[in-house]
Amino acid sequence: MERLLDLGPDTGSLTKQRLTFPLLMCVGAAAIGSLQFGYNTGVINAPQSVIERFINNTYVERYGEPITKGTLTAIWSVAVAIFSVGGIFGSFSVGLFVNRFGRRNSMLMVNVLCFLSAGLMGFSKLASSWEMLIIGRFVVGLYSGLSTGFVPMYVGEVSPTALRGALGTLHQLGIVVGILMAQVFGLESVMGNDDLWPLLLGFIFIFAVIQCVLLPLCPESPRFLLINKNEENKAKNVLKKLRGVTDVSTDIKEMKEESRKMMTEPQVNILELLRSHRYRQPLLVAVVLQLSQQLSGINAVFYYSTRIFEKSGVEQPVYATIGAGVVNTAFTVVSLFVVERAGRRSLQLTGLMGMAGSTILMTIALALLDKIKWMSYLSIVAIFGYVAFFEIGPGPIPWFITAELFSQGPRPSAMAVAGFCNWTANFIVGMCFQYIEELTYPYVFVIFTVLLLIFFIFTYFKVPETKGRTFDDIAAGFGQTAVVRGEKHLAEEFSSLGADSQL
Ligand code: GLC
Repeated sequence: MERLLDLGPDTGSLTKQRLTFPLLMCVGAAAIGSLQFGYNTGVINAPQSVIERFINNTYVERYGEPITKGTLTAIWSVAVAIFSVGGIFGSFSVGLFVNRFGRRNSMLMVNVLCFLSAGLMGFSKLASSWEMLIIGRFVVGLYSGLSTGFVPMYVGEVSPTALRGALGTLHQLGIVVGILMAQVFGLESVMGNDDLWPLLLGFIFIFAVIQCVLLPLCPESPRFLLINKNEENKAKNVLKKLRGVTDVSTDIKEMKEESRKMMTEPQVNILELLRSHRYRQPLLVAVVLQLSQQLSGINAVFYYSTRIFEKSGVEQPVYATIGAGVVNTAFTVVSLFVVERAGRRSLQLTGLMGMAGSTILMTIALALLDKIKWMSYLSIVAIFGYVAFFEIGPGPIPWFITAELFSQGPRPSAMAVAGFCNWTANFIVGMCFQYIEELTYPYVFVIFTVLLLIFFIFTYFKVPETKGRTFDDIAAGFGQTAVVRGEKHLAEEFSSLGADSQL
């Protein structure tokens, strides 16, 4: 089961790249980690009132009186937000695993966290313990944080150069499918009810089982085998399987080149990464792209969309939420197909500008709602447009571009720092949105308009194109490696973008 992916006329010698079954299998098995992340992001939205009822009942059982509104809100907020706290810790720990155990084994072993979390959340009702629910959310947050490092790294390392963007987008596709599944499963008629909510939360057990079955059938990253382990034969065999060809000398040559340069600076820990002048530019780009993903406000929609739609006068808010999930998934697929043609930079710019436009529409819709009734429709259009533009660029690109911007040595630490920033910003938006909304209503989205425009300007001046370039070439463009090639590479493009001046 092999086919060729036609990437269009502009990709030159890379026009035909084999999308082999083993490659697809690797990426698919890894992306179950992304699915878990998405599922747990979306799952807490719909059944809020049902689970709050359980917390209240448990409180009455324990203390003989109903819970106060303040205590209930506090317990609920902690249960929601602790997921991103787990994500912060998890993403920061990526480096502890990937070089020691390898990429694939790291992904496999952290499934223990999913089983533990599924048990804690799934039995919390039986045990009358909301504490178990909270700890379970934290534990699956740890897993999700680790996944946001492991998955893009593994996918980036197994993919051929010309497919790295398209396959990298599968991480985001896993996330959005996870969110959509959670939204649908969370409907009252499915599992979002008093009896079945523990199953809704414990369902992550199934994803973990599937990943544990599939991952052992996938090979270790060939870059890890060759560059970190110096196991050339193994790396060659894996590459032959993944590429579906017998001659893998180009890949091997490229990796050896990178490995040779790494000898001068083998592994880079987080502190060294932060201190080193050499990585300052790519790190700045990686971190700001992660911040632009989260501070665009996207999770204000995915955590609170039902409420946002309700306030905008939409009659069936839950279905509008699911609509947003569908648009979200559809446009991730669009991005998957255009990312190797249009390039990362232009898609990121288009996405940010489109999102900024949508937030302006949303503000108009909210501000005029009292006077003009059909404004509720405009708010649906605005949110759908906002989500669609997010998935064109700012959703998928930051995740995989971080793996692209760094060579093998600093990559794990860079993924950890980028992931940490992403999750921290995620936490801040999740925690603050409702408070800021109350203070600024109906102008809350103006904050995101301003931020999006700032990120647009940064991207325009600072972010180079990485499409179709080898890791080595990209690193050389940032001055991570000293060798300068004859071909036009990123250094030229980067300096023509004014990258050496601080914004
Ligand atoms: C990105 C974000 C995640 C968000 C999702 C929405 O993956 O990292 O926080 O929920 O997109 O599709």
